[in-house]
Amino acid sequence: MSGQLSPIDTAKFVAAKRAVEFVEDGMKLGLGTGSTAAWMVRCLGERVREEGLKIIGVPTSSRTAELARQQGITITSLDEAKWLDLTIDGADEFDSELNLIKGGGAALLQEKIVATASDQMIVISDVSKRVDTLGAFPLPIEIIPFGWQTTKALVEELLPSMEVLGTTTTLRMNGDAPLMTDEGNHILDLHLRSIGNARQLALVLNQVPGVVENGLFVDICDVVVIGHGDGKVDVHDINEGTHVTDQIEFAESDNIFSDLAD
Ligand code: A5P
Repeated sequence: MSGQLSPIDTAKFVAAKRAVEFVEDGMKLGLGTGSTAAWMVRCLGERVREEGLKIIGVPTSSRTAELARQQGITITSLDEAKWLDLTIDGADEFDSELNLIKGGGAALLQEKIVATASDQMIVISDVSKRVDTLGAFPLPIEIIPFGWQTTKALVEELLPSMEVLGTTTTLRMNGDAPLMTDEGNHILDLHLRSIGNARQLALVLNQVPGVVENGLFVDICDVVVIGHGDGKVDVHDINEGTHVTDQIEFAESDNIFSDLAD
């Protein structure tokens, strides 16, 4: 089945393919960002082209907007759409309560606004993102450029009183310059190793002047679709308390594999 795709890409692809089965005609959809979400946009594009599926997408980054346009998906802004039926996005980590770390692709701000403005959020992932405790992946926070060193110092000052194991922070770079997000901000990565109380940390971080948003998604995600390298997918719905395993069949001759640029 996966002669060309690596096991990791197969896992991301089958998670995406299964997740777009939740999409129904007429839906307004939040379109996530990252390599897994890019598979979802391609799978959605395939349904639009082949089934005539009618949906409107709200992209969470300029990268996703460009890919959605290429795929023939109609897109609009969140202000136009106002409220969404469903958001499908990737994650950097998720725990058993479906709390997430996001922002590895620097799109956490738009991703959080869009997911929060949706009736439902589905996360698509390979199994490597599942953790017992969040925090091994550095927690991204979006900060404004003005006075960023002061913001960094204030964040480092509060971390020892949070239930975390590490307290160092690094400004994310893009070559020699600080990375700029789609909103013109910087990203600070917090190397916490373990987060004991994600809800509390998320609230406290957002109290620091200069912090725009943090990458902890608490009580936002409803369903996680976990893909495996052998084409199996696990669907875990936290509200229904259900776990279902499916096998996704696909042929690599599908058109969807002809534009693999991401
Ligand atoms: C983008 O800012 C992130 O939140 C991504 O959704 C997350 O980093 C997962 O990306 P991958 O699917 O590329 O691992």
